[in-house]
Amino acid sequence: MEIKIYPLPGEKKKPKFTDESKLSFGRIFTDRMLMVEWKVDQGWFDARIVPYGPFILDPACAVLHYSQEIFEGLKAYKWSDGTIALFRPDMNARRLNFSAERMCMPELPTELFLDGIEQLVKLEREWIPASPGTSLYIRPTMIAVEPFLGVKPSDHYYFYVILCPVGPYYAAGFNPVRIMVEDKFVRAVPGGTGEVKTGGNYAASLKGALEAKKKGFEQVLWLDGVHRRYVEEVGAMNMFFAYGDLVVTAPLTGSILSGVTRDSVFKLADTLGFRLEERQIDINELIADIRSGKVTEAFGSGTAAVITPVGHLAYQDEMHQVGDGGVGSLTRKLYDTLTGIQYGRIEDPFGWIRKIA
Ligand SMILES: Cc1ncc(COP(=O)(O)O)c(C=O)c1O
Repeated sequence: MEIKIYPLPGEKKKPKFTDESKLSFGRIFTDRMLMVEWKVDQGWFDARIVPYGPFILDPACAVLHYSQEIFEGLKAYKWSDGTIALFRPDMNARRLNFSAERMCMPELPTELFLDGIEQLVKLEREWIPASPGTSLYIRPTMIAVEPFLGVKPSDHYYFYVILCPVGPYYAAGFNPVRIMVEDKFVRAVPGGTGEVKTGGNYAASLKGALEAKKKGFEQVLWLDGVHRRYVEEVGAMNMFFAYGDLVVTAPLTGSILSGVTRDSVFKLADTLGFRLEERQIDINELIADIRSGKVTEAFGSGTAAVITPVGHLAYQDEMHQVGDGGVGSLTRKLYDTLTGIQYGRIEDPFGWIRKIA
């Protein structure tokens, strides 16, 4: 589908940040966005890149009442030689459509997803920061816009993509975070929507996260919603626990998100000399293994969080230090290798990089 490009009004705006090292996550947006619409009798139409700005929504539209919404998150990286690269965007296209199917929304052609993002990022390339640890975060979103108060799939959707120059997701940067195991609230149950990227999952997570923040924790670790016993994932990352060179992570049983970074950690295992096992992780056994020193490292994985070391885990008001509480050697190796590939410092043997300029 042809994507029409509309001019910016007046002078092109200069990037609004001056000190890249102070960039935080998710507050600054670039000049343009991609928009495409879908109607039941038309399919996808009117793909366009327009000036970034608010759009008018009917107060009755479905997304505002019944949360029919899905989104994605990926990044564009600026290499030291000026190359601009996306990391595994095909995986995000695939997951968007997985989410769309669960939420009764229309499938978006992968070529439109990739081509739209590529054209938008190329136009906004001046906005991509180049300092270490910075990148351009890409947020594709689909919302239901039919004005109707009945509970049913909408007959009209907007798909749009906005861009955001970002620094580290956690203020601490690549330093150990403290995580609280949540045993009061639950995030998702099998058969629900935990395995898809829809806003409601995140709205439901706010209360637990807020209470954890008040107690000084960066995020919560969710337990399974049925037994409140098995480890699932953290707010915006999948979790891994290392027992020496054996790394364990929760299986994808329907209530956790299948992370692109999680999959990349699996694929890096052989190269980096560790074994990966997907298995149910009983929180009581995990805490006992942390206390006895069997668990040597813990880390989370995510597009925004990259590889984030976890230094402390609190469960039922007791704090437990993982290893020596610092950044473990495997965690560092993974971080260095993954970011090395993303920023073009290390050759990509997996075909993950999509150069766009
Ligand atoms: C709930 C949740 N789990 C895991 C992840 C990590 O997924 P990915 O590696 O695809 O960013 C994210 C972040 O997008 C997330 O929101």
